Amino acid sequence: MRAPLLIASIAWALQACNTDCPTVNGQPVHLLSELKAFDGALKDQRPAAGVYPYSLQAPFFTDYTHKQRFIQLPSGTHLTFSADGVFDLPIGARIFKTFGHYADQADPTKGETLHETRVLERVGNGYVPYLFIWKDDQSDAECRPGGASLPSTFFDATGASVSINYQTPNVDQCQFCHGYYDPKPLGVKGRQLNHVNDYGAGPVNQLDYLVAQGALQGEVPAPENRPTQLDPTDVTGTLDERVRSYQDTNCGMCHNPKGLARVTGLYLNLEATDPFARGICRPVVAYLRSGGFQRVIEPGRPELSAMSFRLSSMDPDIHMPAGFNQLIDRDGVQLIDGWIQSLPEGTCPR
Ligand code: HEC
Ligand code: HEC
Repeated sequence: MRAPLLIASIAWALQACNTDCPTVNGQPVHLLSELKAFDGALKDQRPAAGVYPYSLQAPFFTDYTHKQRFIQLPSGTHLTFSADGVFDLPIGARIFKTFGHYADQADPTKGETLHETRVLERVGNGYVPYLFIWKDDQSDAECRPGGASLPSTFFDATGASVSINYQTPNVDQCQFCHGYYDPKPLGVKGRQLNHVNDYGAGPVNQLDYLVAQGALQGEVPAPENRPTQLDPTDVTGTLDERVRSYQDTNCGMCHNPKGLARVTGLYLNLEATDPFARGICRPVVAYLRSGGFQRVIEPGRPELSAMSFRLSSMDPDIHMPAGFNQLIDRDGVQLIDGWIQSLPEGTCPR
């Protein structure tokens, strides 16, 4: 799949800005194993000492991949809690995100093929992105800043066989989502990490675990005062809350006043609350890509809403979220369509 037009042209302009691989003690690193974040067979992704796995309340959808996330802290350092934003990471810290497809999504025990491991490393003045592509034999992953297209076949949760050329970004494209010229982590926030995980000794809240390990310091609030981002699949939340949480992760990093999609004025980050900014009754800006529909969201009518149209189209110039996905997030589309359906019809000014 081609990246959407706009993204493709920006990618061209930025080509070869960053062709680096990480260094350790001044020596360039070519293999993921050299970063010493994992013990045992690398493909098992068993964290080494000083490496902390974590998961999120609302993850980003990437072609039904299974993701594993880890933070590696230099010894004697720690994360610093932030009440509303991304944790502060010490210099030298790395965050790893490994993407793979289970052979059968309904049965993870049937094995997994790992595709890529993305890395953000904290340096003096910000973060540097790196990309490792897994070898066919899964013995290690190679630093490949140019990215890769990887044929992948798997059974999805409905039992259907799916074949795609899984597309990784290159390291110049990380900034589309992670921020222009100044990439930053997106998910390592209190509200995303505030839930229970099992590190092998029974369920424990991730924030409490990190604090107990000395890996997280600062003013971590008592459990009852912690911010939490709703799990979008949690049906105890309202449709509106679920949609806002889903969109925050899947759309909000571009659709915010500073993001790649700022020119649209369509803001889908959690901080955006104005219904018009969120698309309700909003006239489309990108009318050539909006399927002929006039409004981003026509209340009560997903079939007349440009948002639904763009989520369900697989034309690479039209599909949202913009980027690299080849597959539609069926659950995400269903959630957003159901929410649009629930909005009272005929309420836009004519
Ligand atoms: C299309 C958008 C998009 C692109 C392109 C993208 N990322 Fe991300 N990335 C995200 C989002 C959203 C999250 C947080 C949610 C999650 O982890 O599921 C994230 C999370 C991460 C994390 C975990 C730490 C964090 O930010 O919370 C790492 C590491 C990472 N990305 C590295 C990269 C690298 C390296 C590249 C380029 C090779 C890249 N990403 C390209 C959207 C993107
Ligand atoms: C990687 C960045 C990125 C992500 C992620 C992203 N968008 Fe976009 N979006 C854009 C850009 C850039 C535009 C403007 C250019 C265009 O229309 O293609 C846009 C335009 C749109 C438009 C058209 C607005 C108008 O007024 O015509 C809609 C609707 C939209 N996005 C919905 C979404 C939704 C819903 C999500 C999340 C599921 C999402 N986008 C995720 C970058 C992104």
